Amino acid sequence: MTREKFKVYEGVFDRITFKALYKLYPKYFDRLKGPISTGKEADVYLAEKDEHYVALKIYRILARMYKGFDVYIKDDPRFKSVRKNPRQLIFAWTKKEYKNLTRAAEAGVRVPEAFGFHKNILVMEFIGRGGAASPLAKHQPPEKPSQWRDLVYSWIKRMWEDKKMVHGDLSEWNILNHDEEPVFIDISQAVLKQHPLSLKLLKRDVNNMTRWFQKLGVADDSLKKWLEGVIKNV
Ligand SMILES: Nc1ncnc2c1ncn2[C@@H]1O[C@H](COP(=O)(O)OP(=O)(O)OP(=O)(O)O)[C@@H](O)[C@H]1O
Ligand SMILES: [Mg+2]
Repeated sequence: MTREKFKVYEGVFDRITFKALYKLYPKYFDRLKGPISTGKEADVYLAEKDEHYVALKIYRILARMYKGFDVYIKDDPRFKSVRKNPRQLIFAWTKKEYKNLTRAAEAGVRVPEAFGFHKNILVMEFIGRGGAASPLAKHQPPEKPSQWRDLVYSWIKRMWEDKKMVHGDLSEWNILNHDEEPVFIDISQAVLKQHPLSLKLLKRDVNNMTRWFQKLGVADDSLKKWLEGVIKNV
């Protein structure tokens, strides 16, 4: 798509988003296909780059930040300089998701590869086939749940132990079933160990996942046992 044609999006997005898209174009994507998901805080779009699909997560500029949004970033030493201006906060949030994706990948967790970001837009690997996004684990549970359990448990542990991080919003709603392989998504709220909320979030992730695997009939308390050890040692 030419830059001229790109202008058709001018009225579709707000000014900041349009300018950010323009900045990422054509290095990170050269064609915008359409929305994959529209949510409260962010919309996810399918786009193309050189015949490959990519996903754009566009944080909403106008949406008022939901309660508690700020606490994740406020106490994160990596974002000390963020002024408490909602726009700056959205940009910080975008950058944080980019960094968290990179960090999780370094821990050996399967997440979408983070390609780049600008202002309120994150460009990442598209998880899907033929332009159709892979289903949420909630909607398509694994055929071999015990294999997923072992893998998911090991990812939570590795993030904590090797990378000192917690996903913070882990559940079957934020795991994609990509050809029977789990992929963690939506990691913008992840925090580091030193964050005052880290243990609380870790507990919640562990509870969510334990509960879900119990529901799938592969109950296993090993992650809870591990968590008890973590809590004892802090
Ligand atoms: N990299 C990706 N590849 C394919 N689909 C994706 C990708 N990232 C997100 N999605 C789809 O978009 C949806 C929303 O993404 P995500 O969970 O990151 O945003 P969110 O902040 O939870 O948005 P919401 O406000 O809707 O809760 C996901 O449930 C998933 O279906
Ligand atoms: Mg989500």
